[in-house]
Amino acid sequence: VSYRPSYYLNLDANASCRVTDSVLTKIKEVERIFPNASAVHQDGQRAKYYLEWSRASVRELLNLSKDERIVFTSGATESNNQVLLSPVFEHLFGDSKPIEDSVLVIGATEHPSVSDVARRWINKPFSYKIVAAGKDKGVSEESLREALSPDTRLVSLMTANNETGEIFPIAELVKIVRNNAHQAYIHTDCVQGVGKLDIDFQHLGVDYLTFSSHKLGGLIGVGVVVVKKSAPFEPLLLGGGQEGRLRAGTENLVACVGLGQVCLDLIRNGGELREQMSYAKSYLLTKLTNNLQDLRVNFSDRATLANTLSLTVPRTNSQDLVVALDLAGIGISAGSACSSGKPHGSSILQSLGFNAEEVRSTVRLSLSGRESLTELDYVAKAFTDCALRAARPCV
Ligand SMILES: Cc1ncc(COP(=O)(O)O)c(C=O)c1O
Repeated sequence: VSYRPSYYLNLDANASCRVTDSVLTKIKEVERIFPNASAVHQDGQRAKYYLEWSRASVRELLNLSKDERIVFTSGATESNNQVLLSPVFEHLFGDSKPIEDSVLVIGATEHPSVSDVARRWINKPFSYKIVAAGKDKGVSEESLREALSPDTRLVSLMTANNETGEIFPIAELVKIVRNNAHQAYIHTDCVQGVGKLDIDFQHLGVDYLTFSSHKLGGLIGVGVVVVKKSAPFEPLLLGGGQEGRLRAGTENLVACVGLGQVCLDLIRNGGELREQMSYAKSYLLTKLTNNLQDLRVNFSDRATLANTLSLTVPRTNSQDLVVALDLAGIGISAGSACSSGKPHGSSILQSLGFNAEEVRSTVRLSLSGRESLTELDYVAKAFTDCALRAARPCV
């Protein structure tokens, strides 16, 4: 392949996606208005109109009813923190009777914006439990049943994993929770689900759903919490009446409008985008497996996202591969963005039974679905060359 794009190819869409042209066009409409949607004057009201337009777009995409609120935050990290800390704040500051002995239950492969908050629950009166991964799936149903009890206050299970791409059967897991923990509220971190799956909030049956815009071609700086009106929800930030008093601080109007456009595009073309992702993934995979005999395609026995590939390239160091491909103008990652720099590599892969050598030689490619076949040919060639050069000889 002599073709080499003059631009950088981002195959790290699960970390962040390039902003789409339709988002860039839409945000021009609000570029010049005074963007404080709480102001009473005309510009403020225009800003408010756009904010509510974005909210309506989220509502339609996820099939939300009048029983659900949509709260804009700064990103999914904040959204997840707010959901998981809400019971703590309710306990500390709420009018209701303190909830003693509450238990939080989370999956083994949750994002740190969930698992790091869970660790804070360890201080009395709260505690948390981790649902072990099964042999062939990231959430063992048996382990989930065992973790649940009348004290379970909140269960947080991701819709799909950012590193492995594994899709979790949330609607089924919700049924297990409802049957075994009658007082529990259920959250799903849907950051990797929205856009890559056809998400219907009513079908999932959860109480809280979170996601963010920059994984979908929107701007960095806005996240969402969908929360059922019947579920308790406390603000993390105080100091203003924005977002129905559930999240103080002036909304990031431009990013919110970008998110509204992303949702609109997904309503119109989401199915087509997912087909393109699937096609691109299998096209690339066929080339790579033909070229590299000992390449291991991880999690191929499970349901995985149409855009995510976890690949183990034996006898290589994933960091070398990431750097070599970067020099070739292609961005991939060794695990997720949040696991980069960790001395022992991805803890998610470790929790799924990968040994140190396997963790060291595993990379993630995540597609936006907008790559052309010429670009994918270039990726396959560059990946093959880099993998062959990076591999230590067999001894
Ligand atoms: C599954 C998952 N949850 C949460 C986050 C955090 O999202 P944000 O970057 O919007 O804070 C990410 C980002 O990688 C993610 O993949």
